[in-house]
Amino acid sequence: MLVLGIETSCDETAAAVVADGRVVLSSVVATQFDLHAQYGGVVPELAARRHLENILPVIQGALDQAKISINDVDGLAVTQGPGLIGALVIGMAAAKALAFAQHKPLVGVHHLQAHIMAAFLTEAPPEFPFVALVVSGGHTNLYKVDGFTEMTLLGRSRDDAAGEAFDKVAKLMELGYPGGVKIEALAASGNPAAYSLPRPRIREEPLTFSFSGLKTAVAHQLKQHPEILLAETAKRDLAASFQAAVVESLTSRAGLALMETGCTQLVVCGGVAANGALRRALNNQARAAGFQLCLPPLALCTDNAAMVAALGYRRLMAGERLDLTGDVFSRG
Ligand code: KG4
Ligand code: ZN
Repeated sequence: MLVLGIETSCDETAAAVVADGRVVLSSVVATQFDLHAQYGGVVPELAARRHLENILPVIQGALDQAKISINDVDGLAVTQGPGLIGALVIGMAAAKALAFAQHKPLVGVHHLQAHIMAAFLTEAPPEFPFVALVVSGGHTNLYKVDGFTEMTLLGRSRDDAAGEAFDKVAKLMELGYPGGVKIEALAASGNPAAYSLPRPRIREEPLTFSFSGLKTAVAHQLKQHPEILLAETAKRDLAASFQAAVVESLTSRAGLALMETGCTQLVVCGGVAANGALRRALNNQARAAGFQLCLPPLALCTDNAAMVAALGYRRLMAGERLDLTGDVFSRG
């Protein structure tokens, strides 16, 4: 069964063809970094307009790359939310139009659940139950996953998401957008122990994350020592110290979630899961604690439509359908 996935929730226009929810036949991602870089972050209205320009060529590109035509597609899946409304409606309108004109079944999928599905596109997919840590620009969520449609939220961020913290700190450090990649590059040769930054914990809610205090601590450092931005070594050290604090917050709670649930497998996905320091720390932790780690390749961690098609396949097989009145949603 061939599913065409469509993703436009933020600043990536993406389409992909996936066979039987497992084999990626094509995956096309048009980023908008060039467009938003000058503003230091995603401008929703501009993102929507760029999606409108890109959506049909990107879909055609995914069909061409898979060497099929739209007639060969058995069903369509589109990200319904959460995300930027103006961006989501472009993908939704395209998906509805194609499904209607081609008489194909359509299903809407949840963006965060789709991120978890990236694990099923790897060579060694996890088995249920497992713990999933979704770390993206808008969310830092820990789930216990019991089935393709059964997941329980164990913990989340009470303020900023991990990716948001990367983006905000990158802005504070005048590194520009996209923040995560810039911080990682700068941190690579920095000393992660140079600055002592907070790792907030909430005693009654050990699986709850908090990143806004960390961001404020970096802002405070920079206010007290503006010279940091002029000294390459200090800048690298601050980036490395910040990154280390985020990595420790994520790995410690993921470890705790495994202990609390008794699960022996951990899936880590979403844009921040592309971070090399986090990946190394997770690999070390898995080796030391003896759990199985599933870390999708980088292209499946950041936003893409293959994960949307993979989840869409399961939903379509379960008989779910989105009719033409189905709408997008921004939160949830
Ligand atoms: O999942 P994603 O592509 O989009 C959302 O659903 O939000 O995640 C984007 C987030 C951004 O905040 C970006 O800064 C962060 O992921 N990110 C990274 C890296 N690559 C992307 N953060 C740290 N290190 C990276 N290498
Ligand atoms: Zn995402």
